Amino acid sequence: MHQFRMENGELWVEEVPVEELAERYGTPLYVYSARTVEEHYDRLVEAWKGLNPMILYAVKANSNRAILELLAARGSGFDLVSGGELFRVLRAGGDPQKCTFAGVGKTRREIQEALEAGVLALIVESEQELLRIEEVAGRLGCRAPVALRINPEVAPGTHPKIATAVKESKFGIPYSAALAVYERAASSPRLQIKGVQMHLGSQITRMEPFEEALDRMVPLVSELKRRYGISFFDLGGGFGVVYEEALASGKREWWEEQATPPATPRMLAERLEGKLASLDVRIFLEPGRLLVGNAGILVTEVQYVKELEGGKEIVIVDAGMNDLMRPALYGAFHEVVPLRDRGAGYKLLDVAGPICESGDFFARNRWLPALRQGDRIAIMTAGAYGFSMACQYNSRPRAAEVMVRGREVRVVRLRETYQDLVRGERGWQKEDARLDGGLAD
Ligand code: LLP
Repeated sequence: MHQFRMENGELWVEEVPVEELAERYGTPLYVYSARTVEEHYDRLVEAWKGLNPMILYAVKANSNRAILELLAARGSGFDLVSGGELFRVLRAGGDPQKCTFAGVGKTRREIQEALEAGVLALIVESEQELLRIEEVAGRLGCRAPVALRINPEVAPGTHPKIATAVKESKFGIPYSAALAVYERAASSPRLQIKGVQMHLGSQITRMEPFEEALDRMVPLVSELKRRYGISFFDLGGGFGVVYEEALASGKREWWEEQATPPATPRMLAERLEGKLASLDVRIFLEPGRLLVGNAGILVTEVQYVKELEGGKEIVIVDAGMNDLMRPALYGAFHEVVPLRDRGAGYKLLDVAGPICESGDFFARNRWLPALRQGDRIAIMTAGAYGFSMACQYNSRPRAAEVMVRGREVRVVRLRETYQDLVRGERGWQKEDARLDGGLAD
């Protein structure tokens, strides 16, 4: 469910026609619906209310300050994976006591920053990391709160690039080593065992992988509770959203028509509650995509239409894989919707970006309403892993981001300029080198 809809052939976000935003702020443009994010958060809380879990929004999905602010205001905590994310969350008014700090490659500096900020727990991904945390805590004279990430070794049935709980994964501590590493942590006066974490992968739309993982994890959690009195079990994130038929699937009727609908938060909560209720530890969830995925779109303008032999057309737009990498990187599907449907019939189209890479496509061989130069389209469900993965490849300044609430619109990130492209860059010339001392941060 979300707040994007077609009305009289025109795409609206909340109470604003998207075309108006494109006119005013230019393209490529990320557009977010504040209410959609809030509704998703509220619906998740409602679905799981039997267990009253702590929600830790996975900042990597979309780290814009406005998104963090509205989730913080709702009481959300945050799942962090870098010093940069910690910096952003603190700046947005997030509560460090409701933050976990994860990631396989934490540096000493990041560990120190997380401890100084007073995060709820560091999620530990290897024994070596545990030793490093111990060392940093010793230096700071504190006890570091830790939880181990245990790999339950189940196949989450998702794209291989976003499946993490498989056996050969770089993530987490192997299930068979769990107790030994906990024992090591327990022996240290510098470490304080707080909980246990798992994460299966991303864009998981079936319930079975979670069930299977819990079958392995629940006995372990009970044992950890008995031995160390742990206080939380963090189930990670990975709850999938619907990318196909983005507009239709935003409506209740669509869900009712599906023979096997993708798992909703309520379905998953109902299925897992029984297994979790007896544990007597607080449950944590780390949703990213679920909260912001279909709360955002990427708006782009058609620059050229190239006709190929056989009648197919390639539509070149002004957004590229540097703005939204998912189709190029994972072959991900994103629905494409014209901001105004001129009723000119459908055509077989490819939608491609301007980048000098053949992989720079948003859609291939898709029947879409016919498009011509100057038309604008929305690439749907781009709120998660859209802007947060954007880069400046081909020296393209990154897009602007706007947020809409009702009729109100705020620019929540300015469009980058050419100056932003070269900020911090120095040439080999003497006068450039001279600047180093003054400008390096
Ligand atoms: N917790 C951990 C430990 C994670 O690694 C992730 C995502 C999440 C939570 C949040 O997952 P979510 O609920 O958003 O599925 N760039 C990829 C997705 C990468 C996910 C990385 N980890 C994509 O665009 O599909």
